[in-house]
Amino acid sequence: MKTNKPKSIIVIFGATGDLAKRKLYPSIYRLYRSGKLSDNFAVVGVARRPWTNAVLRDNVKESIASFKNDNIDHDAFSSHFHYHPFDVTNIESYQELHTLLNDLDGEYHTEGNRIFYLAMAPNFFGTIAENLKSQGLTSTEGWSRLVIEKPFGHNYPSAKELNEQIRQAFTEDQIYRIDHYLGKEMVQNIEVIRFANAMFEPLWNNQYISNIQITSSETLGVEDRGRYYESSGALRDMVQNHILQMMALLAMEPPIKLTPEEIRSEKVKVLRALRPIEVEDVNNYFVRGQYGQGNVSGEELSAYREANGVDPESNTETYVAGKLLIDNFRWKGVPFYIRTGKRMKQKSTEIVIQFKDLPMNLYYDKASNVHPNLLVIHIQPDEGLRLYLNAKKGDHGTVSMPIAMNYNNSSKDKMNTPEAYEVLLHDCMRGDSTNFTHWDEVALSWKFVDIISQAWENSKANDFPNYESGTMGPKASDDMLKEDGYHWWNVSNRLD
Ligand code: BG6
Repeated sequence: MKTNKPKSIIVIFGATGDLAKRKLYPSIYRLYRSGKLSDNFAVVGVARRPWTNAVLRDNVKESIASFKNDNIDHDAFSSHFHYHPFDVTNIESYQELHTLLNDLDGEYHTEGNRIFYLAMAPNFFGTIAENLKSQGLTSTEGWSRLVIEKPFGHNYPSAKELNEQIRQAFTEDQIYRIDHYLGKEMVQNIEVIRFANAMFEPLWNNQYISNIQITSSETLGVEDRGRYYESSGALRDMVQNHILQMMALLAMEPPIKLTPEEIRSEKVKVLRALRPIEVEDVNNYFVRGQYGQGNVSGEELSAYREANGVDPESNTETYVAGKLLIDNFRWKGVPFYIRTGKRMKQKSTEIVIQFKDLPMNLYYDKASNVHPNLLVIHIQPDEGLRLYLNAKKGDHGTVSMPIAMNYNNSSKDKMNTPEAYEVLLHDCMRGDSTNFTHWDEVALSWKFVDIISQAWENSKANDFPNYESGTMGPKASDDMLKEDGYHWWNVSNRLD
């Protein structure tokens, strides 16, 4: 019987690492549990450590231990996993892997389909891609795809160099660059909310929207990633990818078809219209912050500069706020405010669309301000939508009060909302690259961000640390909006 469930071997480089254990193995398991994966799959874990199949399988079972009441045989599932000790610079390693993949192809009837998933430090991405091709691992009867985790380069020149290297071995349509935000349910929903509702799209422009705010705040600090983070900072870690991707989805024109090419081309147009910032203007449009100590619920939290691997005089930002302007017909004059940071008050990602005030409103309470209409898209932890309207309530005469209409996706179906990695792995197996970033998007995002990072690298932030752990960031970020007559909407991230 013909089945459209994907058949493939997934080769995971970095199989002993944290990402594989925390995200990839559980995601493969969930795909298996939901029947989205046929029995014709094998996973080959590749890494330097001298593990065996048994060690890898134990690791996989540990990673899915919380799903113990599923009625799925965890031994049977993990028997699909095979381990191959590997040295990325040694040609023989590739030849041995080649033989193993051919054997597994026969055993699992995977028809020569292969995903090479690079879940490891980026230094060797180029070498691996080149060797996979030169040693024939990508020449099969089926398809071969390369999945690449971020960071994709450190700036535009290094990203370009990396891209040129991997393009020697893989074509653009074989490359799946991960931005895990694009796998999140409510990020994917931005497009649907905008283009499947008659009531939003006519208002979605500079005639009716005053500003858009994107906030992605985290409560954790850099934990044990100090060394990586020192060379990254919040701008490269979050803005270049996740935040600019969300902005592009919010600002793009409706695609003419739901194909990866059409959608990406609309996103690329937004990134092309993003107004570049002059180096000397960076501090008028962007605010940087670094967390200091703080006390949250009685717990003393240490400063960024005290973390392992971090320079005690570090100039690295753990917080960024910015004002982005898109110079096109739809968005001219509408600021997109963005902010993201570590050690903030709450873990939450949300988007607020603030509509313009009416030209005349007789119904508002003169003692307080007009309450603008807001559409809030809750990305996480709750997933849903909240629309703030004004209506008359109780005995307040004709004075309007804000009311909220909620749609809570997660309270209804929390168990079934797929994890970002699960969605993205499944998309990759099906050959759908819509929710992966095209090189053109990566290139434009780096070019935009590079000017800001250069300006910041060349000038010491004398006020660092400038926000306490457990707060919503430096005051300068609030001031930036105040100057424009706005403020951040710290709407609750609870939808109940
Ligand atoms: C990653 C960053 O890309 O995204 C991390 O490298 C950050 O620093 C993470 O913590 C946030 O992802 P999420 O899904 O928890 O919002």
